[in-house]
Amino acid sequence: MAPLKVLSVASEAVPLVKTGGLADVVGALPAALEPHGVEMTTLLPGYPAVMQALGRGRAVHAWDSLLGAPARLLAGKLDGGYPLLVLDAPALYAREGGPYSDVAGRDWPDNWRRFAALGRAAAEIACGAIVQGGEARHFDLLHAHDWQGAMAAAYLRYAPMNERVPAIVTIHNMAFQGWFDREVFAQLGLPASAWAIDGVEYHGGIGMLKAGLSCADAVTTVSPTYAREIRSTTFGMGLEGLVAARGNAVRGILNGIDTDLWNPAGDTALTARYTNRTLERRLLNKRALEAEFGLAESDGPLFIVVSRLTWQKGMDVLSGVIDHLVGIGGRLALLGAGEASIEQALRAAAARHPERIGIRIHYDEQLSHRMLGGGDAILIPSRFEPCGLTQLYGLAYGCLPVVSRTGGLADTVIDANPAALAAGCATGVQFDGVSYDALISALTRTVALYDQHQVWRRIQKNAMKCDFSWKASGASYADLYRSLTA
Ligand code: ADP
Ligand code: GLC
Repeated sequence: MAPLKVLSVASEAVPLVKTGGLADVVGALPAALEPHGVEMTTLLPGYPAVMQALGRGRAVHAWDSLLGAPARLLAGKLDGGYPLLVLDAPALYAREGGPYSDVAGRDWPDNWRRFAALGRAAAEIACGAIVQGGEARHFDLLHAHDWQGAMAAAYLRYAPMNERVPAIVTIHNMAFQGWFDREVFAQLGLPASAWAIDGVEYHGGIGMLKAGLSCADAVTTVSPTYAREIRSTTFGMGLEGLVAARGNAVRGILNGIDTDLWNPAGDTALTARYTNRTLERRLLNKRALEAEFGLAESDGPLFIVVSRLTWQKGMDVLSGVIDHLVGIGGRLALLGAGEASIEQALRAAAARHPERIGIRIHYDEQLSHRMLGGGDAILIPSRFEPCGLTQLYGLAYGCLPVVSRTGGLADTVIDANPAALAAGCATGVQFDGVSYDALISALTRTVALYDQHQVWRRIQKNAMKCDFSWKASGASYADLYRSLTA
C-alpha cells in the first residue's frame, strides 16, 4: 500500500515548544503513525525556539503577504526527529514570551492573525500549492489540532484551492475556542459566504474552533468519555449543539504516551531505574525527591502533583485539603504554575507545613520525571480532562493516579474498589465530583491502601502492566485517515 501523506498542523510540539499535553501528542503522532504506513509532516509556527532548533532549514516557499505578513516556509528535520515544516513569519512569531501570550501572560492581541495565517498556510500546503524543485508537494489529508490549527479546515472549504483534501480537527480542550471580534473577518481572506452559521461565524464573531468543527470531514477528541461529555452543556461549553449535530463524525481516540521518553526502566532522569519486578528501587528515588523538596524523610505516602495550577485541574480544591492530607500522614511535592490565587494558597500551605509540603512554581520537564519515579501517588482532581497524560505517566511509573472520574481519567484508571481489588485489576483511585469532601475521602482511601503494603504493590504492578503506548491509538488514527481518503 502506498504511504499516506498527512500534514499535521499545531501550535506546539515536543521537543520544540510545549505548554501542555497537546505538545506531547503532536510530537508523538508521527512515530505513532509510521508503523501504519502514514508519513506525517508537522507544520509549526516559527517561534524563536523553533527557528533556533531548525537551524537554517531549506526555504521551500515564500508569501509576499500571508494575511498581511510576509512569510517563508522552511523544511527540515530535527536529529532523529520527524519531518518539519516551519512557517517563518517574523511579524507574527518572532517575539519574547509564550506561544499565545506575552511575558506578563496577556494574550497576544493579534492571535487571530497568527493562527489564521497558520491555518491558511496549512490549507495551501496540504493541497499541493507549494511547488518544490518543479514538483508539487502533495498531501492526502490534513490533520489540525485545537483552535490554533482549526482554521485550516475552513480555508480548505472556502478558499479556492487547486485540489481539496479531507481535513480532521482534533479537540484537545473545549475550554479554548479562539473567539475573535467580527471586525477581523474582512482580513481573513475568506469569501463572504464563510460568514455563516455553518461557517466561521460564532456568537457574532469568529469562532476558530467552531469553524474547524463545522468544516472538517471528521472531528476527534482525545478520549471516548470526553467525546460523549462534550455533547452536554457542562462540557460542550457552548459547542455541544454543533458536536451533537455532527453525530458520528465526532469520535474519541485516546492519547498514548511516548514509551521511549516515559519508561522507568530507561529513564536517565531517575536516581534509580526500575521495572515492575524491582519496585523496591523506587525508594532511592523517593529519598532523592524528599531531599530535593526539603521534605522530612518518612515511609509514609508521598503524594505528587505535576500540573497547570488552574480551575480545570481542580487545584483550588486541592489547595483547600492540604491540612487534611498532612493530618492523615501524607506529604506532598508539587510542581506547577498557573493562576496567581492558587499559587498563593499553595505557598501559604507550604509555609504552614514545612518538611511536609514542598512546592516548585515553575516548569521543569526533568523534575517531573524524578517526581513520577519517586512519588507514591499522583493527584489529578480535574473538573474536566479531555484525556490527561500525567495519569498515564503515573501508571507507567507505578506512581498511582488518584483521579476524578471524568474524560480520559475515567477511561484509563481502574478504581481500587473492593470488587476491582478482588478481581486483581485495580490501577488507582477514582472519585466522583470535585469537592473538598470527595477529595478528602479519596485521600483517606488512598492512605488506607498504601498502608497495606502487599495490596499497594499489587496495584502498582497492575498499573505498570497497562499498555497506554500509541500502538492501539496509532492504528485508530490510521484507520480514520484511510476511511477519509479511500
Ligand atoms: P494539559 O495539557 O491539560 O495541561 P495533560 O495531562 O494532557 O494536561 O498534559 C500536561 C503535560 O504538561 C504533561 O506532559 C505534564 O507532565 C506537563 N506539565 C504540566 N505542568 C508541568 C510543569 N510545571 N513542569 C513540567 N511538566 C509539566
Ligand atoms: C489538553 C487537555 C488534556 C489532554 C491534552 C492532550 O491540554 O487538557 O486533557 O491530555 O490536551 O490531548
